[in-house]
Amino acid sequence: MGYSIDILINGLKRLEYRGYDSAGLAVMNSKGVLNAYKETGRVANLEAKIADKDTTGSIGIAHTRWATHGVPNEVNAHPHTSQSGRLAIVHNGIIENYAVIKARLSKMGYIFKSETDTEVLVQLIEYYQKEQCDDLTEAVRLALKQVIGAYAIVVMDRDRADMLVVAKKSSPLVVGVGEDNKEFFIASDATPIVEYTRNMVYLNDGEIATVKIGENIKVATLDNKEVCHDVKHVEMNIGCLEKDEYEHFMIKEIYEQPQSIRECMRGRLLIDKKEIVLSAVRDYKEELLGAERFIVVSCGTSWHAGLIGKQLIETYCGIPVTVEYASEFRYRNPVINKGDVVIAVSQSGETADTLAAIQLAKERGAFVFGIVNSVGSSIARATDTGTYIHVGPEIGVASTKAFTGQVTVFVMLALALGREKGTISDEDYKAMVTELAVIPDKMEKAMKTDGIIKDLAKIYTYAHNFLYLGRGFNYPVALEGALKLKEISYIHAEGYPAAEMKHGPIALVDEKMPVVCIATHHKLYQKILSNIQEVKARNGKILAIVTEGDVDVKRVADYVIEVPQTINSLVPLLSVIPLQFLAYHVAVLKGLNVDRPRNLAKSVTVE
Ligand code: F6R
Repeated sequence: MGYSIDILINGLKRLEYRGYDSAGLAVMNSKGVLNAYKETGRVANLEAKIADKDTTGSIGIAHTRWATHGVPNEVNAHPHTSQSGRLAIVHNGIIENYAVIKARLSKMGYIFKSETDTEVLVQLIEYYQKEQCDDLTEAVRLALKQVIGAYAIVVMDRDRADMLVVAKKSSPLVVGVGEDNKEFFIASDATPIVEYTRNMVYLNDGEIATVKIGENIKVATLDNKEVCHDVKHVEMNIGCLEKDEYEHFMIKEIYEQPQSIRECMRGRLLIDKKEIVLSAVRDYKEELLGAERFIVVSCGTSWHAGLIGKQLIETYCGIPVTVEYASEFRYRNPVINKGDVVIAVSQSGETADTLAAIQLAKERGAFVFGIVNSVGSSIARATDTGTYIHVGPEIGVASTKAFTGQVTVFVMLALALGREKGTISDEDYKAMVTELAVIPDKMEKAMKTDGIIKDLAKIYTYAHNFLYLGRGFNYPVALEGALKLKEISYIHAEGYPAAEMKHGPIALVDEKMPVVCIATHHKLYQKILSNIQEVKARNGKILAIVTEGDVDVKRVADYVIEVPQTINSLVPLLSVIPLQFLAYHVAVLKGLNVDRPRNLAKSVTVE
């Protein structure tokens, strides 16, 4: 058995992209003493802190914290230890009834160092271990039965250096199994452990597992019913986890798009036969073709992809689609009829709101289809079927390649369903398939806009507000462009349907207001040209995204960026690229942390 410390630090670094404000770890030293070390800020700070410490034990736990209870400081950082120092815990999630439990334990003499809900949980486990049962798994089970909330936890016991106890409810957790059970790796997703093992066991909600060296994992429910899980083999391109020659993951991922879209279409778009084949559509024909309505549930960028999906499905399948913020949907009393199919869209596959929306939809009897990137994630497992976007791990907090992957899956889904339903003509279907096949090449051409945008970004670095306008398929692209800018450059930006501008936002336009207009060729081209003229008449500064060879917008706009010509419904796959570059370069020029913007987490596993 080797030392755990290097694996722990490496794992924390792999998870840095998720966003965090402090980091910590607990390890045994060579004398069997359990020590916890914590630091605010970067994992590198923690690394420096432990450099001269005895951390040579073969078992340990580590965590990056994103503050929920209590400010980000060293005391509140995880791991938390129990009063006697025997137990240490890391926890992802929120214990909602922690205050009541804390009050009860305080009365019994327990003293708390931090403001966190997590410390309450480890103290409660210690209480049960002392009072009722020395067995760690049993003590964890008894404690969790008292808990309301969400958790993925790993608990370590100084007196049992050959085992860890893990449990999960509504927060992700995966156990990687080393050869012959000689090693185990536990994490919230496969990313930090896939370089050690590709064999994973995914726990379900309400399960608790004992992970012991040399033995098979023992999994049971909180009611102590034994559960059997298959070990799943996970494929992941580890290259995606490195920045290579790029300065940031975000720019690497923007450039990866032509290739990631090829991967997304591989085996699904059969160009020789001019066919789209999606196994989910083949296997669940009845449920999907019988849909009277689709309800898309998602958040953020995935919600924007859903808005494009709505237009695609309505255009090619004639089935109505509503697009809902998962966070709102889950707390409304949504009307879900028999015959409604819910489509859940998520890059991470772990977004708590989307997961809860799926659960609600399932309780109401809906069939749920997933459009997910993270293989084996909670959302992928919670859905009845779906299509992975297969664009590889996305590390930059601002989503780029996942967005174009989600849109591509929506295109394929709409075409496959439309073909089966006979709602798309043979001619249109073949034209779409042929054009979709060359989209990655056209994306490569769109990458050439990087240089011009990098120059233009200098003009925009000092802007305080931006307006993004688009119509039809480009309206969600305007929303997405504005979100990208907000997230990483901290400049206020609003996306608007161009024609709505005159109903309010036009009041904001003056010579200081940059207005990004997505004005590619389509049937609304003349209309958006008029909208651009309205902005110009108020001295707004226009940056227009146009189709190659454009003449009319060029006469009016201050700056023009060209993207290749394509079919209208595929335009978002190209028109979003310059907007991704714009957000990136403005943020870089402002000296901001592009891959880890303030206050944001990559996987929003809390509501
Ligand atoms: C934006 C972004 C977020 C996510 C949102 C949903 O760049 O990354 O808005 O799109 O948090 O996340 P997923 O897709 O993982 O469910």
